[in-house]
Amino acid sequence: MKITKICCIGAGYVGGPTMAVIAQKCPDIQVTVVDLNTDRIALWNHEDLNNLPVYEPGLDAVVAEARGRNLFFSTDVDKAIDEAQLIFISVNTPTKTYGSGKGMAADLKYIELCARQIARVAKTDKIVVEKSTLPVRTAEAIKSILDHTGNGVQFQILSNPEFLAEGTAVQDLLNPDRVLIGGDQSPEGQKAIDALAEVYMNWVAPANIIRSNVWSSELSKLTANAFLAQRVSSINAISELCEKTGANVSEVARAIGMDSRIGSKFLKASVGFGGSCFQKDILNLVYISKSFGLVEVADYWEQVIIMNDHQKRRFANRIVQTLYNTVADKKICFLGWAFKKDTNDTRESAAIYVAGHLVAEQANIGVFDPKVEQPQIIFDLEESGVSQNSRKRVTSYEDAYQASEGAHAIAVLTEWDEFRHYDWQRIYNNMQKPAFVFDGRNLLDGKKLTEIGFVYQAIGS
Ligand code: UDX
Ligand code: UDX
Ligand code: ADP
Repeated sequence: MKITKICCIGAGYVGGPTMAVIAQKCPDIQVTVVDLNTDRIALWNHEDLNNLPVYEPGLDAVVAEARGRNLFFSTDVDKAIDEAQLIFISVNTPTKTYGSGKGMAADLKYIELCARQIARVAKTDKIVVEKSTLPVRTAEAIKSILDHTGNGVQFQILSNPEFLAEGTAVQDLLNPDRVLIGGDQSPEGQKAIDALAEVYMNWVAPANIIRSNVWSSELSKLTANAFLAQRVSSINAISELCEKTGANVSEVARAIGMDSRIGSKFLKASVGFGGSCFQKDILNLVYISKSFGLVEVADYWEQVIIMNDHQKRRFANRIVQTLYNTVADKKICFLGWAFKKDTNDTRESAAIYVAGHLVAEQANIGVFDPKVEQPQIIFDLEESGVSQNSRKRVTSYEDAYQASEGAHAIAVLTEWDEFRHYDWQRIYNNMQKPAFVFDGRNLLDGKKLTEIGFVYQAIGS
């Protein structure tokens, strides 16, 4: 089957950029991205491309090229489902906050709603593609809903996990290390895999498109994220040891990274990993393992999360201890709120946790993030259970100079490049003395800052 019409349910961090790139690379395919959130769709359609709901370097140009030509954003979900031969599901799958599996299992409520909607609307055969990260065997659940509630049409379910990282989404989509497509082993399933592979072959080399059964594909996504997160927790564990022994974690990372079996990427010690995927996917892996009685497997992966929580707590504690064991009514400046640079996404950002800890100690926090504003910051604190009174202690500023004015300390939470190039002498002059910098990303030039007069503390040295 040759695909000419695609629908994507979910216009978020995954659905938006992915469909924009597919549309750019496949001008003959009509791509419609739908979402329940009318504000979000309005922003995707807004003529000012600086206001796209997802900030990703290079995304504005891709959208500018394809939008209105063969890329459309809409809230009419039924119409888009009805017209499409292939439907991506890219809705959010947060960790459950209620009931059985609370805090661990993925909440599949949005996925199920999608499946039921597709079943209700579809009048012709469809290929349904899981794009969101899902627990192993979700495809089976989707299939069961479609087959039992549909209008008698045929559905093929594929798993095509997205491996893009935020901040580099467009580049990752244009040059993926691999595209993974899992499908049913029947001839119909293979045909569906071929149809989706053909879409990607418009710009991805066939050798980089790999095929597997559905469950391998689903599990590969969880495993990839678990391995990546594990590397961060591993180097963070070593960072604490470095601080005690006089070794330097950057030197250790460099030395081990040159072993080709280990590799140099994902070895940057930090205040802790964040993002919508790592924690959620590992919790999911832990939950699945436990549900099969695999206690050792579950405990092994859970340790990655335990280490990450420890790293965030440790960073906050170090600030309090260094500031003479009290931060009450002191101003602490946060540089960065996003979970990594080059994104406006703040989900699970380490900054939220560190801020929560410091406001509990009655500190005042002045935040500057190039892409995150006050309402989002307050929302994040509220979501993570910080009381209204404590939230009042957090204020966001237009720039780093205002955020750091009168501060006792600066904490670097996100590795935005621009932080490196500030006039650090000017910042120093306007701070309380001694002026402390806690570099949670090992981003700044510690030697230079020390020369200016700062007391500089990095992770793992
Ligand atoms: C190891 C380090 O590789 C080497 O750099 C260091 O100097 C000494 O320790 P070695 O123990 O000789 O070397 O062998 P290695 O190839 O690392 O294998 C260690 C064990 O891991 C073996 O039992 C091997 O069978 C096992 N292994 C290795 C696996 O089970 N799976 C793998 O993918 C790799
Ligand atoms: C991740 C995976 O990389 C991607 O393949 C998958 O599709 C989604 O999840 P993402 O969460 O967007 O992507 O960003 P990533 O670059 O993986 O960073 C995750 C977190 O780890 C960030 O908070 C980052 O700052 C942190 N990190 C990463 C480190 O602390 N040190 C590192 O060396 C690398
Ligand atoms: P991700 O990082 O996985 O892309 P996001 O939260 O950024 O997650 O995006 C998911 C999007 O899916 C949200 O914009 C949400 O409104 C949308 N969504 C969730 N459920 C449905 C649904 N049943 N129909 C349409 N859109 C949905």
